[in-house]
Amino acid sequence: MSGPNNEYDPVQVTPLGAAEVEAMRDDALAAIAAASDLDALKHVRTEHAGDRSPLGLANREIGALPPAARKEVGARVGQARGAVNQAIAARQAELDTEAEERMLAEETVDVTLPWDRTPRGARHPITTGSERIADVFVAMGWEVAEGPLVEAEWLNFDALNLGPNHPARTMQDTFWTEPAENAIVLRTHTSPVQARTMLTREPPIYVVCPGRVFRTDEYDATHSPMFHQVEGLVVDEGITMAQLKGSLDHFAQAMFGEGIVTRFRPSYFPFTEPSAEVDLVCFVCRGQQPTMASCRTCRGEGWIEWGGCGVVNPRVLTACGVDASKYTGFAFGMGIDRTLMFRHGIADLRSFFEGDVRFTTAFGSEI
Ligand code: DAH
Repeated sequence: MSGPNNEYDPVQVTPLGAAEVEAMRDDALAAIAAASDLDALKHVRTEHAGDRSPLGLANREIGALPPAARKEVGARVGQARGAVNQAIAARQAELDTEAEERMLAEETVDVTLPWDRTPRGARHPITTGSERIADVFVAMGWEVAEGPLVEAEWLNFDALNLGPNHPARTMQDTFWTEPAENAIVLRTHTSPVQARTMLTREPPIYVVCPGRVFRTDEYDATHSPMFHQVEGLVVDEGITMAQLKGSLDHFAQAMFGEGIVTRFRPSYFPFTEPSAEVDLVCFVCRGQQPTMASCRTCRGEGWIEWGGCGVVNPRVLTACGVDASKYTGFAFGMGIDRTLMFRHGIADLRSFFEGDVRFTTAFGSEI
């Protein structure tokens, strides 16, 4: 066996000489500095600081060196590895910060960007208006009643004391369906809902009935073959015209503001006796001079025609199965479209029906 070779000085021999170790370290530091992202740095860590990296292999070799050489080489390799690990940690911190900043920048939400490019729809003003009207009565404990648009002639006319030869039938220009012997019409008013209600329930009755009605009218700024009415019906013991007046004054104020009262003008409807036309005090000039003289809303009248009303004709009560000796009632009917035209200053009835979203959205998303 040969003895140790004293001539051999491993400290000076490659690959663990100072120059080589420095070169390994410098290579590693250069690679670390060049790592431009976290993935690249991960790769550099394996290549230059892993077990199989030049410095990792050098470290492993230390154990095989003669004891005299171990300390110096150990210190040299250890320092180089320390420097490399430190540089990796520093670069890692730098890249982490960069990545975080990039993420913050990329994920920033610009709250000043327009958000309403997708147009939002609005409920139709007739829908919201009808609900608003119904709510006024529901708040007083009334119920909402509805009926079909295609109605039996008997309910639209006869039950309401408008017999076949009644002259007032022609006041309501009627759409008849074919064949005529079926006696089916498009309802000309919401009053048949009165008859339907009395036929199906017992008094006390307090109902409000908003809905569509049809007449063979011209289509112009104030007429349409399809429009909307709201009907009211009360049948109870001891009902008089006074309660009708009070209910309509309340309705008028709920729609047009405090102090808006109604006045009754004598009129005729077959289903009510006595009957009246209801006017609203003009909500612009309030019937007060000098404004009234030049008021464009009421045309100087001080009053605006609103609808019809009256005490339910006992013949109607009887036709609909209500004991007319025990009960009395009142009823009224108004145009919803007309009411909303006043309320919102709408000049042309056709605006409701032409589907221009600029009109409906002007009412906002009122619910
Ligand atoms: N139905 C009537 C019309 O369409 C309106 C009306 C008048 C309804 C008087 C009523 C009423 O309930 O009492 O012209």
